[in-house]
Amino acid sequence: MKWQSPSNIAIVKYWGKKDVQIPINPSISFSLKHSYTTTEIVLKPKESKSAISFDFSFEGSQNTAFEEKILKYFGQVKDQFGIFDHHHLSISSSNTFPHSTGIASSASAMSALALCILSAEYPKGRISENEFNKKASYFARLASGSACRSIYPGFSVWGNLDGIENSSSHEASQLKNIHPEFNQLQDAILIVKSSRKKVSSSMGHSLMENHPFRDARIEQAQIHARQLTKALTNGDFETFSQICESEALSLHALMMTSNPSYILMEPESLVLIEKIKEFRKQSGLKLCFTLDAGPNIHLIYPLAVKEKIITFIKAELLSHCESGNWIDDEMGDGPKQLNV
Ligand code: PMV
Repeated sequence: MKWQSPSNIAIVKYWGKKDVQIPINPSISFSLKHSYTTTEIVLKPKESKSAISFDFSFEGSQNTAFEEKILKYFGQVKDQFGIFDHHHLSISSSNTFPHSTGIASSASAMSALALCILSAEYPKGRISENEFNKKASYFARLASGSACRSIYPGFSVWGNLDGIENSSSHEASQLKNIHPEFNQLQDAILIVKSSRKKVSSSMGHSLMENHPFRDARIEQAQIHARQLTKALTNGDFETFSQICESEALSLHALMMTSNPSYILMEPESLVLIEKIKEFRKQSGLKLCFTLDAGPNIHLIYPLAVKEKIITFIKAELLSHCESGNWIDDEMGDGPKQLNV
């Protein structure tokens, strides 16, 4: 089994969870095209039914941190997959984006892993594509929350949302009725700092448990998710931008006001944000920013203005990136099975 599965960028952010990876609020993201993980699992028969057995290599070398995550995950799901009883799993994985860019890789890595074990259990044709995707998203969620949104092309929603058919906290689904304005959204990922995140997302999610703004945040995310789905249907880029930036800054504000508190932006993140706002004001072009739980800036814009935005990035922004580093990404078509 071999799958390539993309990372995704959230416009409405998942921040805070309960029970087993159930989000406290709905989130909406789009899958990327060029930032993805490729994972292959080779099944080797073992003599007798015994404990979970696997080996794992990331870009050709052993990686203990990943191995521990995978073992924990397999322990959680093994009863639902026959393959673990009689096989040793030889897993190899690699990313298209350099490991040192500070880009969260858990969404692509964990969705690729879930797709591999699922396709071993359900070879093509055994269940419908819809069912397969739903299960893949469910099992990806158990590995890493945001990974459940990477299963689909374009926009996905995860979490219960009034008026959105099939929306669920157990798995994501693809958002339909998207206006052509948002068809080929671009995401220029401006690398401010490539070192590892200051705080893991599990730690971040747990800080929401006793957060003084928890209830207000849940309400804000619900309102944003509803408004965003409307804006996506209507082709309303202005509302999209407002929500996108408010979500990014709210996520960082929640981190700043948690106990302990974290400041995840760097001075250059703020410089980039100001430059993007200023350029939008004087050019009148459609562009906006978002951030994950780190200092890098995602500059989001429609394909139609790509040439002008690239000129702006090169002239004004790259000097504020670490070693002029950035990734020219865009909305993608979701995961791809490579050995069919
Ligand atoms: O899936 P996790 O546990 O790595 O959490 C991801 C959280 C954010 O990236 C900050 C937001 C999101 O919705 O992707």
